[in-house]
Amino acid sequence: MKAAVYYQNGGPEVLKYEDVPDPECHPKGVVIRVEAVSIEGGDTLNRWHGALANKPHVVGYQAGGEIVQVGSEVTDLKVGQKVTTVFGAGSHAALRAVPARNAWPVPKGFNIKLAAAIPVPFGTADDCLFEFGHLKSGETVLVQAGASGVGVAAIQLAKRAGATVLATASSNERLERLKPLGLDHGINYKTDDVAKSVMKLTHNRGVDLVVDPVGGATLQGSLLSLAYRGRVSMVGAAGREAMTIDVSSLMAGNRSLTGVFLGAEIGTDRAHNMIQRLIDEAARGELKVVIDRTFPLSEAAAAHAYIESRQAVGRVLLIP
Ligand SMILES: NC(=O)c1ccc[n+]([C@@H]2O[C@H](COP(=O)([O-])OP(=O)(O)OC[C@H]3O[C@@H](n4cnc5c(N)ncnc54)[C@H](OP(=O)(O)O)[C@@H]3O)[C@@H](O)[C@H]2O)c1
Repeated sequence: MKAAVYYQNGGPEVLKYEDVPDPECHPKGVVIRVEAVSIEGGDTLNRWHGALANKPHVVGYQAGGEIVQVGSEVTDLKVGQKVTTVFGAGSHAALRAVPARNAWPVPKGFNIKLAAAIPVPFGTADDCLFEFGHLKSGETVLVQAGASGVGVAAIQLAKRAGATVLATASSNERLERLKPLGLDHGINYKTDDVAKSVMKLTHNRGVDLVVDPVGGATLQGSLLSLAYRGRVSMVGAAGREAMTIDVSSLMAGNRSLTGVFLGAEIGTDRAHNMIQRLIDEAARGELKVVIDRTFPLSEAAAAHAYIESRQAVGRVLLIP
C-alpha cells in the first residue's frame, strides 16, 4: 500500500510517499481502507520528536474509512461498514489496522471526511470541559489556541453548555473565524497580554476554567487568568516549550491544575460512548466539524508544513 512515512524525526520534509507492506488484521481488530486522514496536533509533534515504532514509520492517530477486513473474534463490526478510527500510529496510509474497540461506526449518510476528524479533538475537548474541568452553565471558559482542532471543539461544546467563551489565537483573522462557533471574546496573544485581557473582559474576576493545549509560557498565562476556585485542564504542548511554570497563584485562590490525557481512558466504556455520542451529534448537525483544507496523501509533507505555518483553523485532511 501507499503511505506517508519517515525514517527520522524532523520537519515536514522528512515525510516521504512510499510503498510499504499492507497491515495485518489482528483477530480482535479490523483493517480499513482509509478515505480521510485527520492530521492531529500530536501527529506533527510525533513527527518532530516522537518514537519511531518501525523504520519507515507511519505516523498518525486518526483516520476514517471503510472496513475491508474483520478479525475472527470481532462480532460487532462488518466488512463494508464506515468507521472512524484512533490508534497510536498508522493513519497516514491507504490501509490501517486498529483494534475493533478503536473504531466507531459512522451514521449512514454522514460525510466520512467530517467523521474522520471527530474522535480525538472533540473527545479531548469534552473531557477537558466536563469530565475533568467540571464546567457548569453560567461559568466563563478560556480556550487557549482556539483555532486548533481541540480549540474549535471546546468553543462549541462550552457554548452549548451555557458558558461564556473566551479564546486566544495568533491573529485577528483566526479569531474572526471562531465567532460563528460560539466565541464571545477573542484575544490576539500576539498583540495583547492574555491574563490582563481576561481580567479586563471579566471585570477582574478571571475565568472559571481554562482549556490549555499549548503549555509553556501560555500555561503560565492560563494560571494567571483564573478566578477564585478556577481550574485549568492542561492538555498539550503545542507551543513546544519547556513546562517551567510558577504555580504559586494556585493555593491562595483554591485553584487547580489538572492534566488531561484522552489516550489513558479511550478504551473505557465511558470515553468510547462519549466519542460515539459526539459523532452522532455531529451527524445530526448539532456540532460543526471545521475542515480547513485537504491535500492528497502523497503531499503529506506540504500538509504538515501548512499546519505549521499556523494558517489552518480546525482540521487539515489527507486523502489517499
Ligand atoms: N492530552 C490529550 O489527550 C490530547 C489530545 C489531543 C491533542 N492533544 C495536544 O493538544 C495540542 C493541540 O492539538 P490539536 O490537534 O488541537 O492541534 P492543532 O489543531 O494542530 O493546532 C495547534 C495550534 O496551536 C497553536 N500554537 C501555539 N503555539 C504553537 C507553536 N509553537 N507551533 C504550532 N502551533 C502553535 C496554533 O494556533 P495559533 O497560531 O492561533 O496560536 C495552532 O493552530 C497538541 O499539543 C496535542 O498533542 C492532547
